[in-house]
Amino acid sequence: MGVTVGATLVAGGADVTWASAGRSAATRRRAEAAGLRDVGSLDALVGGADTIVSVCPPDAASLVLEAVLALGFRGSYLDANAIAPERACSMAERAEAAGARFVDGGIVGPPATTHGTTWLHLSGPEARTLLGHFGAGPLAANVVSDRVGDASALKMCYASFTKGSTALLAAQLATARVFGVQAALEAQWERDEPGSAERARERVRRVTAKAWRFEGEMHEIAATFAAAGLPEGFHQAAAGVYARLARFKDDTERPALEAVLDALAAEP
Ligand SMILES: NC(=O)c1ccc[n+]([C@@H]2O[C@H](COP(=O)([O-])OP(=O)(O)OC[C@H]3O[C@@H](n4cnc5c(N)ncnc54)[C@H](OP(=O)(O)O)[C@@H]3O)[C@@H](O)[C@H]2O)c1
Repeated sequence: MGVTVGATLVAGGADVTWASAGRSAATRRRAEAAGLRDVGSLDALVGGADTIVSVCPPDAASLVLEAVLALGFRGSYLDANAIAPERACSMAERAEAAGARFVDGGIVGPPATTHGTTWLHLSGPEARTLLGHFGAGPLAANVVSDRVGDASALKMCYASFTKGSTALLAAQLATARVFGVQAALEAQWERDEPGSAERARERVRRVTAKAWRFEGEMHEIAATFAAAGLPEGFHQAAAGVYARLARFKDDTERPALEAVLDALAAEP
């Protein structure tokens, strides 16, 4: 998703840099293809940037901010990761105490090359200022409010259903397989709605490549529900489902459904 954000900023006329130190060959290939300028180290990136955008696994979001602040960054910092609004607020406090300006962000939609499929939601006092950088390119940007936390809350609520329901579907199919009623379940789905069984199978197979990253995101959603006074158990369980699928992270081909369901039913 980082290259979708980077390509959008390039299309808007910004000089977009990134730091390759510690990053994989796959990330390098994506950044080069998007025309982003590699400055090597985080130190060099911080020294030359007036705005920093963080797009990384949610588990790393706070660490990335701390690393940037420790290098003396005092500009605008956009965190566009899938994190709980309370975490966004505490990161904003950290950034502001260090003299930087924090913008909260949440991305909805897949990595995109064309405009209109993927949205960057922004919030916070500086959100409108940053919006001007996102006027062209694949991402559509939108200001939710001038309050840090609102963009993250929107992202958490949206993903609670899309990714939460996929985890439930995967667990449902795995349970049906263990009890020997998977075929009967799929036959019942087909009676309800022709084509739905195949769609469900594909949805579960498709999620495997990103499951390792979704575990952390489910914990963020659980924290968001808890902060709103709702039960957090749905997404704690969804985190457990995705943790069991983490082994598919580096697979080059989509696994067979049976392999996915076996992984779900196995003790971690
Ligand atoms: N993909 C989507 O459809 C989507 C949709 C909406 C929102 N998002 C949000 O976008 C963010 C990134 O997701 P993604 O799908 O782009 O993940 P991804 O494809 O796995 O890419 C994650 C990137 O972060 C880098 N990274 C990993 N650990 C890091 C660290 N400690 N410090 C700095 N960079 C680090 C990775 O580099 P290496 O290759 O070196 O590990 C990689 O380039 C998440 O917060 C996610 O919620 C994604």
